[in-house]
Amino acid sequence: MVDPYAQIPAFYDVEFAAATADISTYFRDLSGARRVLVLGCGTGRVSDGLVGPDREVVGVDLSGPMIARAQAARRDGVARYVVGDMCRLAELSLGFFDAVVIPNAAFSFLPSRREQLQCLQQVRALLRDGPLWIDVPMPDFGLMGTPHSPEAPAWRGLVGELDVRRTREVFRTPVAQRLLLRDRYYTGDEAGSQPICVSDLHLRLIFPAELEWLLESAGFYADALYGNHAGGALADGCDRLLCRAL
Ligand SMILES: C[S@@+](CC[C@H](N)C(=O)[O-])C[C@H]1O[C@@H](n2cnc3c(N)ncnc32)[C@H](O)[C@@H]1O
Repeated sequence: MVDPYAQIPAFYDVEFAAATADISTYFRDLSGARRVLVLGCGTGRVSDGLVGPDREVVGVDLSGPMIARAQAARRDGVARYVVGDMCRLAELSLGFFDAVVIPNAAFSFLPSRREQLQCLQQVRALLRDGPLWIDVPMPDFGLMGTPHSPEAPAWRGLVGELDVRRTREVFRTPVAQRLLLRDRYYTGDEAGSQPICVSDLHLRLIFPAELEWLLESAGFYADALYGNHAGGALADGCDRLLCRAL
């Protein structure tokens, strides 16, 4: 399997360095949690943000390069990082947790309902009484009939000395609830230049009722659904589908 994150950990880290709204949501809710598990932790943005004096945080990610970046770049936190599949947690012998967080679309990378259910069942087995947070993109009903959005600028930043820009092209297969996000990374502005890397992100969109069904099938229930990290109500047109499950 191709790891779409293999070449981009440094770019990802810089692009998302300032994103903290989700961390605040989880931090507020997890005040009593002694052990927290972050699944699809990437380069450690959320996991490091949740570390506290009396709290151990473990981050799991499928991508070796993302975990290597988390281990190397991380500051003074005590988050522990493990390469692993969130659908096969039992193999990792991680122990039990007071809370689990699956941030920023990581759950959407699971290719089918089978893997999604498998993941939730594995989480159920190692979660004590605390919450499970899942943050995925809300399906965009307005764009469902648009199979393709052409390459467009998405981000630009300095990665060390390198001026990097990212574009995004989107392919949609609504009937299969699938999205392909083709991210191209370039250096500089030169027209017609070749990307330094291309990262294909394959996501499966999840609808709110489907997420609730998946949770119930794994022994959870959706305690609250939000449309953003400010606690806004979930509605059509929301960017996020943020769920706190118990
Ligand atoms: C959009 S990134 C989010 C990274 C990080 N959670 C953040 O918020 O900055 C999605 C991450 O999910 C990871 N991922 C995808 N499928 C996974 C799986 N089956 N098990 C563990 N991690 C997975 C990817 O490697 C990637 O690092």
